Amino acid sequence: MADTPATKQVVLVTGGNQGIGFEIVKKLVAEQPTYHVLLGCRSLSKGVEAISKLEKLAGSVSPVEVDITSDESIAACVTQIEREHGKLDVLINNAGIGRHAVEELPSLRAKMAALFDVNVFGTLVMSDAAIPLLQKAADQGSVPRVVFITSEMGSLGNTLNPSWKYYQHNTSIPYKSSKAAANMIGACYSTLFEKTGWKINCCCPGLRKTAFNNHLSVAMDVEEGAVRAVYLATLDKDGPTGTFTNIDGTEPW
Ligand SMILES: NC(=O)c1ccc[n+]([C@@H]2O[C@H](COP(=O)([O-])OP(=O)(O)OC[C@H]3O[C@@H](n4cnc5c(N)ncnc54)[C@H](OP(=O)(O)O)[C@@H]3O)[C@@H](O)[C@H]2O)c1
Repeated sequence: MADTPATKQVVLVTGGNQGIGFEIVKKLVAEQPTYHVLLGCRSLSKGVEAISKLEKLAGSVSPVEVDITSDESIAACVTQIEREHGKLDVLINNAGIGRHAVEELPSLRAKMAALFDVNVFGTLVMSDAAIPLLQKAADQGSVPRVVFITSEMGSLGNTLNPSWKYYQHNTSIPYKSSKAAANMIGACYSTLFEKTGWKINCCCPGLRKTAFNNHLSVAMDVEEGAVRAVYLATLDKDGPTGTFTNIDGTEPW
């Protein structure tokens, strides 16, 4: 055990090899010298390649393989973290897919199933599997934190608001439903762990230029998409829990 000095906080970012997840990893590595960041990736080669872009940063980072659609992969990831670090202080549930990833699938049912497999089932199973490791961090005096990267697209309040900027995009039912379900997972966990002082929050990164949307020209710069997640990942015991926010403030559930 103990690749990580006991004083280091251990953070897992799922889907950390590209897009918003990579920016979250980069920001944590650049700004948090007392953290060890585990860059979650579906293939180690992608993780190693992503980490090679962080060489100039002083912080500490290593790859860990995890495909959240596989119970075996999640179990192996948790076992590896337990063996090498003995605990997990922060889980950032970032891995997710959007409609472009499923557009080749033959039916609405198949698209919906694929989206839910990653954005909902994977997110819940990953979170559930990480709880014992988060508890180990709590036993050592840490404040466990879980961040759910969901989306304003998953907000019921936004969806029903005719003045909302994406009111016309209410046709994206499979993705929007998956992110509403992910918000529910975050909300439930926040209540279940409220009394123990864990900080469990959902956030929307905003529309960011990534592979997720084929680098949509009107989307915003990806770097800033990490800001809210990193804030929530670095909360202390006085920080909020059970919130749903974006970089500018509160999102309606
Ligand atoms: N971009 C936006 O405008 C936007 C807006 C709101 C919310 N979000 C949310 O932000 C999160 C990150 O999206 P992004 O824009 O950064 O997308 P991205 O650039 O496509 O990155 C997604 C990451 O998730 C990983 N991933 C996909 N399926 C996975 C699985 N089964 N197991 C583990 N990892 C998996 C990908 O791995 P590979 O590299 O191997 O494919 C990649 O590392 C998602 O949850 C998304 O819903 C994005």
